Amino acid sequence: MGTGQHILTSKTPTAVFLVVTVDDGGEQAARDALEGLAGIVTTVSSRVPDATLCAVVAIGSDAWDRLFSGPRPAELHPFVELTGEVHTAPATPGDLLLHIKSDRADLAYEVGRLWTTQLGDAVTTVDETHGFRYFDMRDLIGFVDGTENPNGPDAVSAITVDPDQDPDFAGGSYVAVQRYVTEFSEWNALPTSDQEDAIGRSKLENVEMDDDTKPSNAHTALTNLPDVDGKPQDIVRDNMPYGDIAGDGVKGTYFIAYSKTPAITEEMLRHMFLGDPPGNHDRLLDFTTAVTGTQFFAPTAEFLADLPP
Ligand code: HEM
Repeated sequence: MGTGQHILTSKTPTAVFLVVTVDDGGEQAARDALEGLAGIVTTVSSRVPDATLCAVVAIGSDAWDRLFSGPRPAELHPFVELTGEVHTAPATPGDLLLHIKSDRADLAYEVGRLWTTQLGDAVTTVDETHGFRYFDMRDLIGFVDGTENPNGPDAVSAITVDPDQDPDFAGGSYVAVQRYVTEFSEWNALPTSDQEDAIGRSKLENVEMDDDTKPSNAHTALTNLPDVDGKPQDIVRDNMPYGDIAGDGVKGTYFIAYSKTPAITEEMLRHMFLGDPPGNHDRLLDFTTAVTGTQFFAPTAEFLADLPP
């Protein structure tokens, strides 16, 4: 089995998310940039060896067949758009995703700058988001985000495509991204106890509500997906706050989730947007709107080092 990219790293203070589409005729440049990314990260890292710097690159469903002639990841398909009674999860374009993580914003910027320079006019950037760590792993809504992520071997197994399922792409991971824009005037007007009901955890101490008190439309009630044995079906989330500071400027959460199959994230999204039971949608969505939604596959380091024809 191949080696997964640097997905399970320490939580860095800064991250950049770049989503681009490959223009007609830009396929070879895109392939060169996939192969060239590791060299760019090494080049930038070597200037500040003590800093954390890594980057994950992933490829969208439509782009896969334009870039490679061989087999494709078994479950790679476009992001599934969802239209609930009240809220919508749109599917938006994206051929390549670059997720850069660093403890220095300048290094993350430099990797993105060199990579997009290499791509030149072969691509169009459709979303560029610069995320920052906010206090003790909080979203801008004020809650700690990431608590229930799996750790250690559980995290590895949550994100790694199994050789039995898809031998050609074992070791890789599926990635879903959504940029959310939050209405802070409305969210901040809610009493803290109502905010806690929306998430299903206390705000300051981050303690989970017990099952008797957690509302069925709380975010964590709808995204907790036990399997038939009652064990949680996990994904690894690496969300980041982003956005403008002043007034009505756009700000919110960049959601990114890695998983061994897109099916788990998709089920969580159905619960959030369509509701579970149907109509019982995620209360968080009354204050935060998904403006992008794209699905990718992050292949192994070996695949990127020696791309198939
Ligand atoms: C839990 C925030 C979107 C999946 C949480 C928690 C917060 C949070 C504060 C509780 C602490 C934790 O365990 O991390 C947000 C925000 C979002 C967002 C602000 C977007 C604006 C999503 C999406 C998904 C998701 C789109 C899945 C498709 C989960 C899962 C948990 C969780 C699986 C853990 C549930 C549990 O077992 O307790 N999120 N989230 N989140 N979120 Fe989200």
